[in-house]
Amino acid sequence: MKYGYFDDQNREYVVTQPDTPLPWINYLGCQAYFGIISNTAGGYSFYRDARLRRITRYRYNNAPFDLGGRYIYVRDDNSGEFWSPSWQPTRRKLENYFCRHGMGYTTIGSQFGGIEASTRYFVPLDENLEIWQLTVTNRRQRAAELSIFSVIEFCLWDAQDDSTNFQRNFSIGEVEVEDGIIYHKTEYRERRNHFSFFACSEKIAGFDTQRDVFLGPYRGWDNPSVVEVGRSTNSVAHGWAPVGSHQIKLFLQPGESRQIVFLLGYQENPRDQKFDPPDSQVLNKKRAKCVVSRYLVPGKTDAAFEKLRLYWDELLSLCQVDTPDVHTNRMVNIWNAYQCMATFNMSRSASFYESGIGRGLGFRDSNQDLLGFVHMVPERARERILDLAATQLPTGGAYHQYQPLTKRGNNDVGSGFNDDPHWLIIGVGAYLKETGDWSILDEPVPYDNVPGSETPLYEHLQRSFRYTLDRLGPHGLPLIGRADWNDCLNLNCFSDSPGQSFQTTTNKDGTVAESVFIAGLFVLAGGELADITKHRGLEAEACLYLAEVTKMKATIRKHGWDGEWFLRAYDDFGRKVGSKENAEGKIFIETQGFCTLAGIGLDDGRAQRALESTRNLLATKHGIILQQPAYSKYYLELGEISSYPPGYKENAGIFCHNNPWVIIGETRVGNGDAAHDYYTRINPSAREEISDVHRCEPYVYAQMIAGRDACTHGEAKNSWLTGTAAWNYYAITQWILGIRTGYDGLVIAPVIPGNWRGFHATRKFRGVTYHIAVERAGNGNQVSLEVDGALIPGNVVPLPPEGTKSVAVKATLR
Ligand code: GLC
Ligand code: GLC
Repeated sequence: MKYGYFDDQNREYVVTQPDTPLPWINYLGCQAYFGIISNTAGGYSFYRDARLRRITRYRYNNAPFDLGGRYIYVRDDNSGEFWSPSWQPTRRKLENYFCRHGMGYTTIGSQFGGIEASTRYFVPLDENLEIWQLTVTNRRQRAAELSIFSVIEFCLWDAQDDSTNFQRNFSIGEVEVEDGIIYHKTEYRERRNHFSFFACSEKIAGFDTQRDVFLGPYRGWDNPSVVEVGRSTNSVAHGWAPVGSHQIKLFLQPGESRQIVFLLGYQENPRDQKFDPPDSQVLNKKRAKCVVSRYLVPGKTDAAFEKLRLYWDELLSLCQVDTPDVHTNRMVNIWNAYQCMATFNMSRSASFYESGIGRGLGFRDSNQDLLGFVHMVPERARERILDLAATQLPTGGAYHQYQPLTKRGNNDVGSGFNDDPHWLIIGVGAYLKETGDWSILDEPVPYDNVPGSETPLYEHLQRSFRYTLDRLGPHGLPLIGRADWNDCLNLNCFSDSPGQSFQTTTNKDGTVAESVFIAGLFVLAGGELADITKHRGLEAEACLYLAEVTKMKATIRKHGWDGEWFLRAYDDFGRKVGSKENAEGKIFIETQGFCTLAGIGLDDGRAQRALESTRNLLATKHGIILQQPAYSKYYLELGEISSYPPGYKENAGIFCHNNPWVIIGETRVGNGDAAHDYYTRINPSAREEISDVHRCEPYVYAQMIAGRDACTHGEAKNSWLTGTAAWNYYAITQWILGIRTGYDGLVIAPVIPGNWRGFHATRKFRGVTYHIAVERAGNGNQVSLEVDGALIPGNVVPLPPEGTKSVAVKATLR
């Protein structure tokens, strides 16, 4: 069952039924001002940091699930009837309801009683505000007398405090209202120098800023007393819960249409200019007024919207494909790229499943996310890499997370995840291949942000590599530390106290438990580092790295192979994890995927064997399960993984993040059919038809799909902010379609399904546009390349001479 459809032409998903199984959301903003908006206008906004600069309030895990947002009420002043064009919060039966989620904007509208109303919400580029463009049209035969009420609820800035510290909060709320603009200035009297404003393009008939007055006692957002009565009260909030609401009166002739613009913005004042006059407590509104007057000029909002559209045109044009599969095209060309930008902006901080108050930016997550967005925002990727590296510890180890506002590492979720350092090598490698900007390796970067500790970035990579060599276990495999990629495989935790954090508790010295996954990662990162090193002319050093890689491969063969698949780990007792010897958790996806993608076992058939086992034991129609059989009980020596009920999350859920590892593994053994088949199983667009089972948005990946041991097999959870976005983008574009960035040029190595006759792609790479045509002339994956009409050996399109604008590539597969 579907709840809407894709409008690929306009790059939108159109929701046609408001009561989707879960809120289907979108993001507004791509620089500093951000918002989350659901298909019924729910959600909230913040400036830079979802915890510390929350502009509007949102109550997570509400009932209904999604309540509170950017609401508008339309009231027929003759009949007294009122409704919300976005369905929530009044939930009246609407005609022609639609929600168009697009690139950085969302438009929601409907018709009720002959009155059509729709609102386009977006954040203009280079501004710290959001625009609501409301259009109301009278489709009746007679004139209409209407009132429009806007409403938002202000958050008292620190979202964590806002939802807990009520004994203080109920006394500190403050606002000012002047010329129809509502200013929220809680805590401005003391240390804050920022405030928010809510303005409207029309002359207002009234306003409200005290929630209890707007709603009335014992009423909810579905039935506010002010809207029912039809008259704002001009309430001024002192304490309690400040809101912003305007009332506008509209008289519309039959067929007449009017546009009203609302602006919700964030503004800072210099500390010495907070008040006007200076010795008063009156907010200095000059800057805010200036912004407001700029945006209330007719035509300005449309121009700002056009600019945003061009911005996305430009970003998405960097990689466009035309394949025989509509779901591939749609995800690569539009939604997957778009989601990668959301993970770049948000990391894992703010979605409808990440509350925006918990996690900073993950070291491992952020480095992997680079794979998906480095081609779109290379300068910002560069900055991200340098920020991440600056939190690295002198040992080469890493804090697991860092705070975006301070750019400092934090130990809130522990550190000593022994896979972390290698992701920096992977991230830097991706950046270098995309941009060819070798200068980044010479940037001086400190350790743990300590001034004076700077070394060139290159040395950070060297230390990352060494980190593992300094921490090998009894079998010569890397020690796992707190955990590796799988945060929940906690082999040194041994926690038996309820509520204790699996992420920060360690009760073992950690000198026994080893990770075959980190061994695979080491092989991949080591190869990458060797390539980088060779480019710096350090042949001898590169050889050392390769020697270590070869040694690790041999160790994996000896101690990391279980006969039919790669082992997962050794626990604190030196016992196997992910082996046929285990009663539960016999086979794990991580090592099958990562070892094969790293090329381990390609030469001796182990890769093929591991992928076969994966297909037989882990693959389902909804994707590939993390491990089997699921853990049916809690294992003290395994930790959080066994805390989840079977089939969910790391305990045998389909953790979509690692499916692309198997997909890439399949391309490495030349199996394009299997690779694309797996890709399709978790492709959200391909799952649109089963939206009632999948439940999450059909246009973005979710972190997890319930595995076959769960009662809700096939149900997705935790949409939007997941490493799944970057890895799938990388897998489909660089490995299945095979347009792969290399240190010396663009590699063309498609491993596509056998029944594809070919495909076309346009890829901008280092300033040059490559027009690529792939044609199948045989059943294999052997490539012959013609570049601008001339046959060349190999599968790398060499970098063209300076000044070249475009290159035509024809690849024939035999
Ligand atoms: C979450 C984390 C990621 C981790 C994964 C598996 O997605 O953000 O860092 O690798 O879970 O535990
Ligand atoms: C929890 C989640 C896991 C996540 C980890 C780190 O353990 O279950 O998926 O990776 O937290 O935040």
